Amino acid sequence: MNILVISGSPRKNGNTEIMVEAFVKGARASGNTVTVKKMSELTVAPCKDCEYCFSHDGICTQHDGMTEILAAVDRADMMVFASPIYWFNVSAQLKAVIDRLYARAKKGFNPTCAGLLLDSGSPNVYEGAIAAYKGMLHFLHWRDRGIVTISGMESKGLMSRSPDLQKVEDFGRSLH
Ligand SMILES: Cc1cc2nc3c(=O)[nH]c(=O)nc-3n(C[C@H](O)[C@H](O)[C@H](O)COP(=O)(O)O)c2cc1C
Repeated sequence: MNILVISGSPRKNGNTEIMVEAFVKGARASGNTVTVKKMSELTVAPCKDCEYCFSHDGICTQHDGMTEILAAVDRADMMVFASPIYWFNVSAQLKAVIDRLYARAKKGFNPTCAGLLLDSGSPNVYEGAIAAYKGMLHFLHWRDRGIVTISGMESKGLMSRSPDLQKVEDFGRSLH
């Protein structure tokens, strides 16, 4: 399977990127092709709802990091959304990418399934992000392949010591 991971943290080498590395390790071990797009490296502006994409074969008027993300979406069978929790939801960086997926709303999507990886300081903060993810998948008729949440991430890099990283790697390995 061709898997596209969007790593939603703006923090380079932070907890989300460490979590994504574990996922990638497992997914590649099962023979999947995995592409990671990091929001610590790309800038994506919010959708402007100009609807140009609706009448121009999915072409977006904004030329930024989303150009290469959309090209990767078109090659992917599955999308994985990874994000730190920011105020009980995904990061604004990931939300901008999700909003800009509007460019495929009329043209149609290649992916047919998705996964969600979330990390946070506190436990029990995932309800909003998970509800939005599930609503989106229901709307798109995509299958949910799994959701992993890891809390206790009060500072940068704590993830590398988390025993829960194995769950993320196992999730990646379960996909084919
Ligand atoms: C703007 C902001 C908002 C946050 N909001 C929450 C929150 O609502 N609940 C929580 O448990 N952690 C919250 N956190 C903590 C992060 O989710 C946590 O430290 C995460 O592991 C950071 O991931 P990163 O290193 O990949 O950026 C917040 C952090 C930031 C910077």
